Amino acid sequence: METVVSGIRPTGNLHLGNYFGAVKNFLRMQDEYKCYFFIADWHSLTTHPKPGDVESNVRKILAEYLACGVDPEKCSIYVQSDVKEVLELYLFLNMNAYLGELERVTSFKEKARQQPNNVNAGLLTYLTLMAADILIHRAHKVPVGKDQEQNMEMARHFARRFNQIYGSELFPEPQSFHYSAEAVKVPGLDGSGKMGKSEGNAIYLIDEPAAIRKKVMKAVTDQGPTEPNSVKPEPVENLFTMMKIVSAQDTYDYFNDKYNACEIRYGDMKKQLAEDIISFTSPIRERILEVASNQEYLNKVIAQGAEQARESAVKTLIEARKLIGFSR
Ligand code: TYM
Repeated sequence: METVVSGIRPTGNLHLGNYFGAVKNFLRMQDEYKCYFFIADWHSLTTHPKPGDVESNVRKILAEYLACGVDPEKCSIYVQSDVKEVLELYLFLNMNAYLGELERVTSFKEKARQQPNNVNAGLLTYLTLMAADILIHRAHKVPVGKDQEQNMEMARHFARRFNQIYGSELFPEPQSFHYSAEAVKVPGLDGSGKMGKSEGNAIYLIDEPAAIRKKVMKAVTDQGPTEPNSVKPEPVENLFTMMKIVSAQDTYDYFNDKYNACEIRYGDMKKQLAEDIISFTSPIRERILEVASNQEYLNKVIAQGAEQARESAVKTLIEARKLIGFSR
């Protein structure tokens, strides 16, 4: 059976981008593959060196995974920092990762621009750690959103390089995976770009209905089209993309027809979109609150996940060490 790995950084709550880009795929994949889903707490140190209460951030995301339906009886759910073997593989991969290629990565350049006073070595080697997360379980498939495509390219690159240098086939080349025809990019509603925590435009699964209504009603639009069947400018396209992701097809078609006939009322469209988001998030929100209050259950899931992930990680490391020449 093929193996799947994916992770999310615990730098905030889960938002619609995380859900539709990644978690939605986890839910189907856990029935079809051997899955490892983790919380990337080490990765969050690249941007948040003093993360405060890491433990409670981790538990927050864990409760959200579980509330979405990620099931510890079907897959392994673990915390990255519980599997120290990942660090040894990270070190091995770093020995064959070159400054020039790491510096050229778009996500590194972006982060370096955002935090010019903290361009740390962890940020530079973010992608060797990400590759280690994936390769430690010799994963074939990685469910991620569109924003991770270049990162996945690099993970394949490091896998190929390791295999070549040590004359092995230890690592399969991991592929990004999604059930939809294309990787999903959930847009922000603030005019351009994707929804994200650091973009400050996220709609969270845990948001109260009033907060969701407020965020959606603030979405950027324009005066409306004056010519039938006009091309939609980016902010308007984003609103439609969001509706396509969250609402029923006939709701989308209704507003799309109105747009094409120059009769669109963005206020009505936003109201509808907000209600559709709320119907989707409300039951999840209730489950998050319920799961988060059961710390004993979370402890059990964390311990069980760590054990399962370590078992798989140790097997890979034994092989990797041998290939490099370490005999113990
Ligand atoms: P992170 O924590 O930024 O996001 C977690 C997941 O959510 C997806 N995502 C989106 N998808 C579509 N549209 C959006 N607006 C959107 N925003 C976020 C991301 O694509 C991702 O799948 N580097 C990773 C964490 C990581 C990882 C890994 C992932 C560390 N090691 C190994 C997979 C395998 C990250 O920062 O994701």
